[in-house]
Amino acid sequence: MQNLRYVGKNLFLEKISIRNFLKKNKTPFYIYSENQIVFNYLNFVKTFKKTNPLICFAAKSNSNTNILRVLGKLGAGADVVSGGELLKALKAGIKAKKIVFSGVGKTEEELKIAISKKILLINCESESEAKLVNALAKKMKKKVSIGFRLNPNVDAKTHKNISTGKADNKFGLSIKNFKFFIKKIDKLKNIKLEALSVHIGSQILNDGPFKKTLKVMNKLIKELRLNLKYVDLGGGFGINYKDKEKPINLNIYAKLVNNFARKIKCKIIFEPGRSIIGNTGILVSKVQFIKKGQNKTFIILDAGMNDFMRPALYNAFHKIIPITKNSSKMKNAVEFVGPICESTCKFGVYRKYQKLSENDFIAITNVGAYGSSLSSNYNTRPLIAEILIKRNKFRYIRKKQNLLKLINS
Ligand code: LLP
Repeated sequence: MQNLRYVGKNLFLEKISIRNFLKKNKTPFYIYSENQIVFNYLNFVKTFKKTNPLICFAAKSNSNTNILRVLGKLGAGADVVSGGELLKALKAGIKAKKIVFSGVGKTEEELKIAISKKILLINCESESEAKLVNALAKKMKKKVSIGFRLNPNVDAKTHKNISTGKADNKFGLSIKNFKFFIKKIDKLKNIKLEALSVHIGSQILNDGPFKKTLKVMNKLIKELRLNLKYVDLGGGFGINYKDKEKPINLNIYAKLVNNFARKIKCKIIFEPGRSIIGNTGILVSKVQFIKKGQNKTFIILDAGMNDFMRPALYNAFHKIIPITKNSSKMKNAVEFVGPICESTCKFGVYRKYQKLSENDFIAITNVGAYGSSLSSNYNTRPLIAEILIKRNKFRYIRKKQNLLKLINS
């Protein structure tokens, strides 16, 4: 995060001192840097400049309408996976003709919204779904553009819970079944196959699996002589959560994609989420209590796993940094934990950490992607606030959910 840094002892996001900000704003909250969002998006555009793809931001990674609006203004489309995300993207001003809809279990209601709003592509993931789209389109007297999501059986070499392109995963149709299906597709008069799509997984740090997938797509399109308008290559580009990690280098892949697009004469679509939004936000939390355990000291935060699920779900590492630095050290190892009644409600262990006291503040870093969007009301806790910073200005882009409304709903 280029926009997150210490000035002296104090943590700043863009031009705002978090310590000062905390004088009037209550924790826990997500806070994002707009400059970082813009930088990441334009950097992605630059990497694939020759290909000039349609970049459909994966709304599931962060579906805050204001963030979608920032990206929409830069020209981004959206990749959505529910009727709710679809309506949010439209509300954020993203044009229907820049929206693609993925997901293995779209409902009739959701498909009807997608058809009536005339989105760019419904990316079908099964023969049954394609038939349902055809039947609904017929009823609605429409001809609908669809894409077909394939399962290329490529190992993305990422965490097993976020791998989606292997034969074992529920996503997409196998190449074999697609070849079988394509012979019958002409019978479905109210759909038109305009695209193939793939998405092999998330937080991929090596370009190998992407290159392999491109080969599979190339071979299939040639073999079946498909005449497509689009190829949707999905998202999945990894970022560095650890200082030692390197984010994926996409330059070689970008050249291959460009050659591929020219050969098959298709518009390329990408669906990046994490690489655009992951490193733009932090979760600021207060040290509620400090409790000595047998072998370590528990730092009990006011943020819980319901606010930020990634460590509990994937054992994910997110560096925790102090809002104000000091040079003293805690005696024992520390474990940052939250208040939720689950042993997995914890955020990381540090053997050596600076001295922390109750009522101090910390930031959990790189939480822009799959942070707020994965949060829940577990333990009947209200969803926390989200704030967007631009230079020295800030605005609430989601207020903390009202507790009374929550318990009465
Ligand atoms: N397109 C499709 C069809 C997807 O399923 C996904 C993510 C994306 C695009 C965006 O992938 P990205 O560029 O963000 O890697 N909750 C997990 C990640 C789940 C990803 C699900 N699909 C996590 O926190 O790591």
